[in-house]
Parts: sequence; structure tokens; C-alpha cells
Amino acid sequence: MFETLTAAPPDKILSISLLYKNDPRPEKIDLGVGVYKDAQGTTAIMRAVRDAEKRLFEAQTTKTYVGIAGDEKFNKGMLKLVFGETADLSRMFACQTAGGSGALRTIADLLMKARPDATVWLSDPTWVNHLPILKAAGFKTASYPYFDPGTGTVKFDAMLEGLRQANRGDVVLLHGCCHNPTGADLTMEQWSAVAEVMIERDLFPFFDLAYQGFGNGLDEDAASVRLFAGKVPELVVATSCSKNFSVYRDRVGAVILMGKDAEAARIAGSQALATTRVLYSMPPDHAAAIVRMILEDDALRADWKSELETMRLRMLNLRSGFADALRRQSNSARFDFVAQHRGMFSRLGLTEEQVERLRNDFAVYMVGDSRFNVAGLKEDRLDDLAKAVVAVL
Ligand code: LMR
Repeated sequence: MFETLTAAPPDKILSISLLYKNDPRPEKIDLGVGVYKDAQGTTAIMRAVRDAEKRLFEAQTTKTYVGIAGDEKFNKGMLKLVFGETADLSRMFACQTAGGSGALRTIADLLMKARPDATVWLSDPTWVNHLPILKAAGFKTASYPYFDPGTGTVKFDAMLEGLRQANRGDVVLLHGCCHNPTGADLTMEQWSAVAEVMIERDLFPFFDLAYQGFGNGLDEDAASVRLFAGKVPELVVATSCSKNFSVYRDRVGAVILMGKDAEAARIAGSQALATTRVLYSMPPDHAAAIVRMILEDDALRADWKSELETMRLRMLNLRSGFADALRRQSNSARFDFVAQHRGMFSRLGLTEEQVERLRNDFAVYMVGDSRFNVAGLKEDRLDDLAKAVVAVL
């Protein structure tokens, strides 16, 4: 049996974590995988999560299945988080998934049932796992221009032109906020123009919203999805609680669907559940139960929001501190875009060889495309790091 297989190529992000772990140099810096770290370099459990976990431990009397869609109160909470507290949810459906990737794969399989001949358009570049997930679902894929490494900004005209090349009925995967890997986001005017082109070309919006609350704020980061929801008849969102609730390993996210009407959303939702049933049968509960408790309880919710805001502001400070250090060390404005970007990542625009030299000569670990995790930066080492970057240029 297994002699027919060849080894799978290593994952471009996760393989960096392994290299980092095995590096004995004490000064090493991990800017690889997208997990939030505090000033001590720890991915701490958020206070509200800890409190909810304690309550859950006391209150939970059974581990029996919750149900195929997961916790309905969690699902409602996620809909409100994405669309807003007062949004009309009558055309919406949500179900709990195993992380954001579970949501992406469920949506990919669902769309394959609905429109198998469609091509899914991905931004160039995009998160390294998007393509494998869509391929695994059986989709043809294509890419639309997105990022200009020369300026560190979105190639907006080229993006619109790229989207105009799509066939009617194709699917477009959009990063709702905090573009991964570039950190370059669209303005609201640009989102509006993208929506117009997609309506004109009858393209289907598929949002990945994995970093809500890490960019400009919880509501601001969902503004792209909300804008589309006000303009288009249907859309899907894969959302994740890994980052904004820091519950990475416990795996919770959600599939969110907006249908043309309540009945269409119900039917599409039933197919999403038929999909998760064959993928993993029932979603894991632990993190969803915690998120639900936090969203339902005023005190927990306020504490969660305040800690999330502290995390977001810390990343913004690190961005401007690192951009300043790069400006000082390189005597140029070449890296100023780092301060303009949002979310966990930016790309420095280094070659694979330069990234490798950073790893070998300076114990600095980032993804091969020079994507770095802003939260992995250390306040007191920004100039060291900037010097290392300049040394490999
Ligand atoms: C990342 O992009 O680093 C995160 O989304 C973690 C992952 O699974 O790749």
C-alpha cells in the first residue's frame, strides 16, 4: 500500500516552526507561524477565556454530542460578530467548524456541490493553505493580481482588471481584513469598487475572515463583509476564533452563509451540514462553548474586547517601531509600508536566499516569502532585527 506514496512536501509555514524549535541559539526570534505573542513572547490564554473555562469546568455535566451544527448560541454569536448586533439575520445560516480551515474546506466542498464548473480566484499572493484546500475540494483555481512588492501596496487597478477576466459564476476568495501574507488591505472605497465589478460580472464572494479584531477593530474589520452583504444577493464567510480568542489548538471557527432568502439559506445550510458530517461528523465543542459564554456574558465580553484591543494596539506599535528601526538602519523609506499595513503579517520583499541567511546567520525565522509575524517582534530588539535585515540585502 504505502510504497505507492512519495513524501508530501513540507508545509511552508509549519516547517519554519519546527526549524525554530530545534535551533539551540538563545537569541533566536520566531516570526513564522501566525500566533499572537505578548511582550514576553508567550501566547497566553486570554483572561476571559480562562474565566469562561473555569465556569465551564464547574457547569459542564456531560460530554455527549452537542449537535451537528454545534452550539446554536455560538452560531448566533458569530453571526452578530460578523454582521453586527442589530443586523437582520433572517437570510443567514451559521454552523460551528473545526477552526477557520474547517470552515474553508466545508465551504469549498459546498461550493463544489453547487457549482462544480466554477473557477475559484485567489489573490496573488494568498495564504499558503488556500490553494491546497480548494484543490482538495476539486476546484480549478486562478489568481488575480493583488500585491505590488515594489511599493508594498495593493495593485488595485490590476486587481479589478484581473477580476474582470473571470467567467460569470466564478468564485472570488477575498481576505476580509488583515491580508495574509501581505498585510495590505483595501480601503472601503476599493471594497465598494470590487463589489461593483463582482456584481457586474456575477462573481460569487467567498470571504476568509480569520483576523477580525487584529486590524482596525472588531467592527471595522468586518466592514468589508457588511458592505458586500448590503449589495450582493449571496455570500459565504469562513471565520475563525483561533486568533481573536487565542484558542488556536482547541479549534473553532464557523461557516457563515447568506442566501437570497431564508429558504435558500436553510437549504444551503443543510448541505453545509451534510458536508461536515462526512468530513468530521461533529464539531469539537470546548472552544465554541467558551466563545459562546464570553459573547453572552457582559463582563466576560467587555474583558475579552479590552484584551483584544490591547493586542491589536501592541501590534500597531510594533509595526511603527519596526518601520522606524528599518528606516534608521537602511537610511531609506523602503520599508515604511510596514507601519501602514494591518494585521499580523507583512512581507519584507526579501528573496528566499536572504530569508535563509537571516535564519542561518542571525537566528531570525520567517516564512520563505519573507512574511513575518508582527506579534513575534520584540520591542527591545527592533534595531538588531532591522540591522540583520539590512545585512542580508
Ligand atoms: C498562518 O498563516 O501562519 C496561520 O494561519 C497558521 C497556519 O495554520 O498557517
